Amino acid sequence: MKTPFVFGRLAKDNNFTDRAEETAHLVTNFKSLINTILISPRRWGKSSLVFKAASIAMKEDKDLRICLVDLFNVRSEDQFYTALAQSVIKSTATKWEEAVANASRFLSRFVPKVSFGTGPMDELTVDLNMEELRRSPDEILDLAEKIAKEKKLRIVVCIDEFQNISSFGDSLAFQKKLRSHFQQHENIAYCLYGSKRHMMLEVFTDYSMPFYKFGDIMFLEKIKTPDWVEFIKSTFDRTGKSISDEVCGEIVARVQNHPYYVQQLAQQVWLRTGKVATIDAVGEAHSTITAQLSLMFDTITQTLTNQQLSLLRAMSVGEKNLTSQAVMEKYGLSSPTVISRARKALVGKDILDNIAGNYSFQDPVYAYWLKHHYFQL
Ligand SMILES: Nc1ncnc2c1ncn2[C@@H]1O[C@H](COP(=O)(O)OP(=O)(O)OP(=O)(O)O)[C@@H](O)[C@H]1O
Ligand SMILES: [Mg+2]
Repeated sequence: MKTPFVFGRLAKDNNFTDRAEETAHLVTNFKSLINTILISPRRWGKSSLVFKAASIAMKEDKDLRICLVDLFNVRSEDQFYTALAQSVIKSTATKWEEAVANASRFLSRFVPKVSFGTGPMDELTVDLNMEELRRSPDEILDLAEKIAKEKKLRIVVCIDEFQNISSFGDSLAFQKKLRSHFQQHENIAYCLYGSKRHMMLEVFTDYSMPFYKFGDIMFLEKIKTPDWVEFIKSTFDRTGKSISDEVCGEIVARVQNHPYYVQQLAQQVWLRTGKVATIDAVGEAHSTITAQLSLMFDTITQTLTNQQLSLLRAMSVGEKNLTSQAVMEKYGLSSPTVISRARKALVGKDILDNIAGNYSFQDPVYAYWLKHHYFQL
């Protein structure tokens, strides 16, 4: 039998739980063409949520198209334009022939020769003529608006890992250019999302930045325990196994409601369960996952400085007042300035998260590994 839990891929249909409010909010924004910014740490479910809301919105509004652009591997303006053009063409056509026709019609200057494969639309790639592109990138930025107008559509352009634009060559100038185009589009809304909270906040909440007050900012929260419990129970039920509320609660608590890990841990428990899941199975499954990741955790930890490690050690013990003289002395932290520098570096390395001045570990399994295996507390 196929294992029933999903992690590392989009959570869809049966595998998507809760998020009713956030989904409804996003669907409304999409249908009303309200620009949205969605922020959450890695693997909390941004992409799954956007995909879900996009599917619902498109079902409810036949003239709406959702265009998904992923900047995960995009490191330059040129690559950005290519990714954007490709996704816009893909999302506004239902058949190959239509995509080809659109590309030759709207991108003729950039695509001297249009050639497409014969596979599914997902595999469509558009190669743009870079020289031409550098001469007039504006046309690509306005491509969605142009197609929307002609075809009487409305399009939501969703850009994943948006924070990557801050690493482009002249990022500020690029952001200015993007914003000035985006705000003229009448038939397009933008949904910009990403996981590097500090970088996203810089782009969207700093008043000196071009994207300041660009749209509705949503901070995605973790999925609540009762929703997880119901989800895990029904997934076990569906596959002829059973699990108590208590054991479900233990799965969720062990990984602090982290969506990816809840699914992974539930999967490991499911694999260890004949008929009825036990608490012991949760402990074993958690150890297995921690062991699988320990090499990676070790590698990450080796890149840390002594002061960063001291800070993590104090946090692992649960110290609250890190800048107090006693705590600094106990853990060998030399000054409040050093602590703040170490925190900043750890946020930059995606180890800590800064939520309104409260620092916490991003990865609950790494936090566990550090505490119990590395520091052996
Ligand atoms: N609503 C949900 N219901 C159940 N599981 C979910 C949900 N959202 C996310 N997950 C779990 O979390 C994993 C990561 O989800 P997703 O890829 O959507 O997150 P993300 O925030 O886009 O991650 P990344 O930062 O890596 O882009 C999924 O594979 C799934 O296991
Ligand atoms: Mg994602």
